[in-house]
Amino acid sequence: MNKKYRLQNIVKSRRVTVILILLGMTLVLFLDNTALAKGKSEALVNSLAELVKMFDSSSCKECHEKIYEQWEKSHHARPLMGLNDQIFITGYLKRGPLAIKPGERATRENFPCFKCHFPQIKYATDLVSAEIADAVLKDDKETIRKLNISCLVCHNEKAVVHGRPDKNVIYGNKDIDDHPKTPVKKSPLLKNSLMCGQCHGLGPNLEFETPVQCATLYGSYLHAYIPSGGTETCQQCHMKDGDHYMPPNFNNRAELSERLKDALPMQVRTLAYSFQPKEGDVRPIVVVNTKITSKAGHRIPDG
Ligand code: HEC
Ligand code: HEC
Ligand code: HEC
Ligand code: HEC
Ligand code: HEC
Repeated sequence: MNKKYRLQNIVKSRRVTVILILLGMTLVLFLDNTALAKGKSEALVNSLAELVKMFDSSSCKECHEKIYEQWEKSHHARPLMGLNDQIFITGYLKRGPLAIKPGERATRENFPCFKCHFPQIKYATDLVSAEIADAVLKDDKETIRKLNISCLVCHNEKAVVHGRPDKNVIYGNKDIDDHPKTPVKKSPLLKNSLMCGQCHGLGPNLEFETPVQCATLYGSYLHAYIPSGGTETCQQCHMKDGDHYMPPNFNNRAELSERLKDALPMQVRTLAYSFQPKEGDVRPIVVVNTKITSKAGHRIPDG
């Protein structure tokens, strides 16, 4: 009797536990759904104009004039415009494995180039990817020129690796609570080569429907330069005194060849002599020894 009673009790409490667990799961699912829905409606924008506004850094010019002008001349200010002011992505959208077939639209998944050339796309829905693809196919340079790796892409979106960046913070080398409009918070990543490595590439990007490989320079830095005793960071070589111009600038040919001459010094030694294998057969011979040294922290050229 006693035993039966206890058994019944256990069965009952099991049922209660099961019901409680189910209830708990529903609650978690419910909370999860609302959190997701909330996150989505807060984070993802539906138009290119909104996305451009979200990362607009023109207000920084007023006080950081010198840095702004350096940045404006850099390739980071025109990541979808190639040499000679051409939209470089047009050919890829029209032909080959990344081409958008009639009836299809560009999405963040089938358009892997955005990962590094316009990473803020992750804050937008696929409507925005389609809007960019339309502008590219119409050769609408005015629109494509507005898309850049702005101050806020590096000083917010790419400035932390663990977790999401705080939306209303600019990340810098020190804390400045009374920075105009937005507080500045210290992020150790800004002095680290990994900051640049996020876009300057390790190897193939296998996470996409059509994997691609573009920049792999960070791989060369990590696997060749560092193991052979290199000690400098990308910033130490490319951002001396906080310079944001970050050459080489491939649109300035004269400056580019000067820089490369300096970066890749070439030593040439020659020896000229005559070789006479048999009488009357004199052959002029020249021995040329060349040695090219690279001062860079990685292979050149990349990509
Ligand atoms: C009204 C003027 C003003 C505007 C606008 C402004 N800043 Fe600043 N910013 C300053 C001043 C002043 C400092 C402090 C300089 C110092 O103490 O070294 C500063 C410091 C910073 C630092 C920290 C520098 C460090 O040592 O790490 C960063 C990063 C920064 N600003 C980025 C930005 C960005 C990005 C924008 C645009 C979204 C912006 N600022 C807009 C005035 C301004
Ligand atoms: C892993 C990040 C990454 C991905 C993904 C990526 N790129 Fe790049 N790409 C870069 C970086 C960084 C540079 C500049 C530095 C370099 O060339 O080493 C660059 C340079 C280029 C250049 C030369 C720049 C110029 O001004 O002409 C072209 C063209 C280019 N990428 C096309 C593409 C295309 C097309 C895709 C998509 C199929 C793509 N990239 C995907 C990071 C990437
Ligand atoms: C490609 C990424 C990138 C972009 C784009 C970028 N920054 Fe920076 N910025 C950095 C990094 C990295 C540092 C830290 C460099 C260091 O300390 O060696 C830095 C440093 C700074 C500093 C501190 C400079 C100093 O002398 O200590 C200021 C101020 C700043 N950035 C403002 C801006 C503004 C304004 C813009 C837009 C015009 C901008 N940055 C665009 C990566 C970027
Ligand atoms: C958000 C991604 C991103 C980050 C972060 C980034 N870069 Fe770039 N960088 C690019 C892209 C994309 C290009 C090529 C733009 C083009 O010309 O099409 C580029 C171009 C350059 C160039 C010009 C040479 C070339 O091949 O175009 C240099 C130098 C450079 N980056 C250095 C750096 C350094 C140093 C850092 C870190 C302080 C850094 N970048 C951070 C994406 C990035
Ligand atoms: C020891 C110094 C040094 C270090 C460290 C270094 N670079 Fe360079 N980098 C150079 C030199 C020198 C060049 C040659 C061109 C020039 O000086 O304009 C160059 C060229 C480049 C180019 C153009 C490549 C091309 O195809 O022409 C990019 C992009 C670049 N560096 C990015 C980076 C990034 C990102 C890092 C860190 C992962 C880095 N660099 C680390 C010195 C360095």
